Amino acid sequence: MSADLVHPGHLNILREAAKLGEVTVGLLTDTAIASYKRLPYMTFEERKTVVESLRDVHTVVAQETLDYVPNISSLRPDYVVHGDDWCVGVQAPTRQRVIDTLAAWGGKLVEVPYTQGVSSTKFNQALKEVGVLPGRRLGSLQRLLSAKPLLRFLEVHNGLTGAIVEHTHITTQQGPCEFDGMWCSSLTDSTARAKPDIELVDLSSRVRTIEEVFEVTTKPLIFDGDTGGLAEHFVFTVKTLERLGVSAVIIEDKTGLKKNSLLGTDVAQTQESIEIFCHKIHEGKRAQISQDFMIIARIESLILGHGQQDALQQAESYIRAGADAIMIHSRQKQPDEIFAFCEAYAKLPEQRPLVAVPSSYSHVTEEELRQKGISIVIYANHLLRSAYPAMKRTAESILRHRRAFEADKDIMSINDILALVPGTK
Ligand code: SPV
Ligand code: MG
Repeated sequence: MSADLVHPGHLNILREAAKLGEVTVGLLTDTAIASYKRLPYMTFEERKTVVESLRDVHTVVAQETLDYVPNISSLRPDYVVHGDDWCVGVQAPTRQRVIDTLAAWGGKLVEVPYTQGVSSTKFNQALKEVGVLPGRRLGSLQRLLSAKPLLRFLEVHNGLTGAIVEHTHITTQQGPCEFDGMWCSSLTDSTARAKPDIELVDLSSRVRTIEEVFEVTTKPLIFDGDTGGLAEHFVFTVKTLERLGVSAVIIEDKTGLKKNSLLGTDVAQTQESIEIFCHKIHEGKRAQISQDFMIIARIESLILGHGQQDALQQAESYIRAGADAIMIHSRQKQPDEIFAFCEAYAKLPEQRPLVAVPSSYSHVTEEELRQKGISIVIYANHLLRSAYPAMKRTAESILRHRRAFEADKDIMSINDILALVPGTK
């Protein structure tokens, strides 16, 4: 069981099982569930508490994989009881393996008719509509990091882009696929306001964006905190973000007038001293209230041309100062310097999860990044970059033709836009 939602169908299976003897439930861990669908709403411990208290349950054991064989082989049950909805489809081979394993000691598979009408997919939809409280959203990033080898974040800059990250979902040969969370980018939050990315858009405006996004989403958000400002200011930012339910802030080790990193050395940019940046991290960590909030230190050494050794030295220092993760940034077209950093980083005595932002080296795959030790990949600006050319084309078409008709074929129909957001019609 996942048991994020315990419904009458589960109780029916447990009741039937209890007629056969003492019931042990194999409860899927967060990692096992996250390998094929969204992380459950309740933590493993919470789900375990619920299942243990059910009348027909004797014991709950962790089921670490979707495969039942490891647990079955160690428990050697007389019966395995399961809903009969797994005879066809993706679970059919798993079922066969259960039958084959049980055969070794004469165990039996008992299948209980599946209860129609209750579905965890519907439950998930309902949860999304209800929303999520700040603390639970905040903690979901740490939970995801422990449950999945690589997390996929996409940029948001308003409610609509939040809804896109929340709901976009495809099914591939490897199973369902969606984004794990959102990146509140300083570049796109500024550009959406037609303002430069130089820490000009103030925290209150950035918070408005977060609130707009949070009203229509449940996934975790990582906030681009630019340089974090002065340590004396950063401590207040940390508390503000925590209160909202933001899971992490990334601050970059630059000082003075911050410019966007993708400009690299084409503009004047200065790296902060290790001492001052470490002090900022340390103060931020002291200021936070929850256990779960993360301060991620972003290293600009490669962006500023200071080289690998410099980047590694910063990483060691920032980790010592309390950074919960490290973001390593590069503007090269090839991922070589990122990969070289990852390899050297893996040899450091102490490590934290690594974050990469493959904007310039965009041909790199998630799998390649994961193999190099990256835990979070951020697609930092892609929704805004895809929306802007489309809007510009439409504006030009109207000017060119002195009417909107020619633009119609490239834009959403009125009906579609009216149906886009629940509650519009
Ligand atoms: C952002 O998205 O604002 C970032 C990432 O900081 S980058 O634009 O690559 O610097
Ligand atoms: Mg930024």
